[in-house]
Amino acid sequence: MIDTRLAHRNVLVTGGAGNIGAAISRAFAAQGARVAIHYLAQDVPAPARAEWAHLTPAAGAADKLAAELGNGSFAVSADLSAPEAASRLVEAVVARAGSINVLVNNAAHCESPDTLDTLTHGSLERHYRVNAIAPALLTAEVARLRRGDDPLCVVNVTTDAARAFPGQTGYGTSKAALEALTRSAALDLAARGIRVNAVAPGPVQTGWMDEEVLARATAIVPMGRVGEPDDIADAVLFLASHQARWVTGQVLQVAGGHAL
Ligand SMILES: NC(=O)c1ccc[n+]([C@@H]2O[C@H](COP(=O)([O-])OP(=O)(O)OC[C@H]3O[C@@H](n4cnc5c(N)ncnc54)[C@H](OP(=O)(O)O)[C@@H]3O)[C@@H](O)[C@H]2O)c1
Repeated sequence: MIDTRLAHRNVLVTGGAGNIGAAISRAFAAQGARVAIHYLAQDVPAPARAEWAHLTPAAGAADKLAAELGNGSFAVSADLSAPEAASRLVEAVVARAGSINVLVNNAAHCESPDTLDTLTHGSLERHYRVNAIAPALLTAEVARLRRGDDPLCVVNVTTDAARAFPGQTGYGTSKAALEALTRSAALDLAARGIRVNAVAPGPVQTGWMDEEVLARATAIVPMGRVGEPDDIADAVLFLASHQARWVTGQVLQVAGGHAL
């Protein structure tokens, strides 16, 4: 039996009640960790377009998941597109849990269409606020509020298409910024024993692929299937575990060979 040394650790998972986020929250709870399940604030304006409906607040889902996980897990809301959200979120979690030992930057904003033709200042800004700026500020905040030499590490969730994502300009480039942050923050924080890594998922079936898209995605994954949320959660868990104690600044592609 491998001891991940995550029992009794406090883990903040942003978007922790979403599709992959819930799998990540469950994986940490199964190791005995207390999970602060972050979800989108309830008072955000209704999405302007039907395809952004996934931005609908999920307070009920986060509370339900916290009850299911046990270990003192709890739900906490914040709109990560707001400038002051990162410090408020970290302060709220530290006030409740006493400390944060693992930060998982999983929440993401993704719009469609997102091509060079449809790009606007606003669409770029919305992607960068949630996908790059908030993770950077959250990383800085958890490092700042760390209690003494408490164990602390950060795992970012990017995309295996961050190097080049044609047709997803705002989303793809904001995730590339998150990968660059992973390496820079890892170097800035290494001497303090704080590790920063990332998991870069390939296409994961979370309901966004209809049969046709699923068939197309399956065909371009060398291992012959698309991902499941648990494929990503297990990799996040590994990077946060004692077993990855000398791993930092890495982006681990979890994609069945896709986009190598
Ligand atoms: N699914 C894939 O194929 C795939 C592939 C590559 C990478 N990824 C990455 O995997 C991660 C999880 O994706 P997913 O597929 O599980 O998507 P998802 O279910 O839509 O999860 C995204 C989460 O981000 C949160 N969020 C969005 N905007 C926010 C805001 N302004 N403030 C706070 N929270 C916000 C949402 O919170 P609420 O739940 O409260 O709305 C949601 O839980 C993301 O980083 C995504 O980029 C996914």
